Amino acid sequence: MKIIEAKDYQDMSKIAAAYIIKKVNENPKIKLGLATGGTPIGVYSKLISDHQENGTSYQSVTTFNLDEYVGLTGDHVNSYRYYMNVNLFNHIDIQKNNTFIPRGDVDDVLKECDDYEQLIANHKGIDLQLLGIGANGHIGFNEPGTSFDSETHLVQLTPSTRKANARFFTSLEEVPTKAITMGIGTIMKSKEILLLISGEQKREALKRLVTGNVDESFPASILKSHPYVTIIADKAAIADLKVHC
Ligand code: GLP
Repeated sequence: MKIIEAKDYQDMSKIAAAYIIKKVNENPKIKLGLATGGTPIGVYSKLISDHQENGTSYQSVTTFNLDEYVGLTGDHVNSYRYYMNVNLFNHIDIQKNNTFIPRGDVDDVLKECDDYEQLIANHKGIDLQLLGIGANGHIGFNEPGTSFDSETHLVQLTPSTRKANARFFTSLEEVPTKAITMGIGTIMKSKEILLLISGEQKREALKRLVTGNVDESFPASILKSHPYVTIIADKAAIADLKVHC
């Protein structure tokens, strides 16, 4: 794992956006894996500015999002489809039918999981996967204890994750209890991974990731065995951790 230290959230977002833009320019047909949550919003905002100012094109780019809440339609303000449309897709020239996110409003959720895994495979996998991390080490919605071999599956969200995400809803009760997520095995099949870590509240997670063992109790630890992972972390997350690239 290579670790890049950013000054702060804005700097982390700038470095990550530049990284993605370079990859898109090198391969206009790149397949990007995208994440939601608070962390990548700054990156998306910089991708939009760059598209408007420099014309970077997403016409031929395909995207796959990590996860979606079960029970929310794509036009619900808290669905990840809505988040992606509002924070990125509506402002760049990507073709919406090339943007894939699991559907959380289907009758047969298990079939949706299988279909999503197959869809990624049919596209011959993800070239660059953007990731955030939960304080408990979750990636996507893969909570501690998830098998490292898991494919796209249905998850029961932990109380801590629901509580962490309640800030985007009007109350904790409104936060869905289930989600569909790419599995850890799915994520690990990506050719390259870019992990963003920002803020004091992620300090312990970063420390455990760097210094701890590879263990299913801390899902992100598997990233240590991926050949091509870059972490961009800000000073607040790195703190006094001595990182070695
Ligand atoms: C959420 C998402 C993850 C995200 C993580 C951290 O629950 N499912 O994909 O990376 O938790 O979120 P945030 O960036 O808001 O801290």
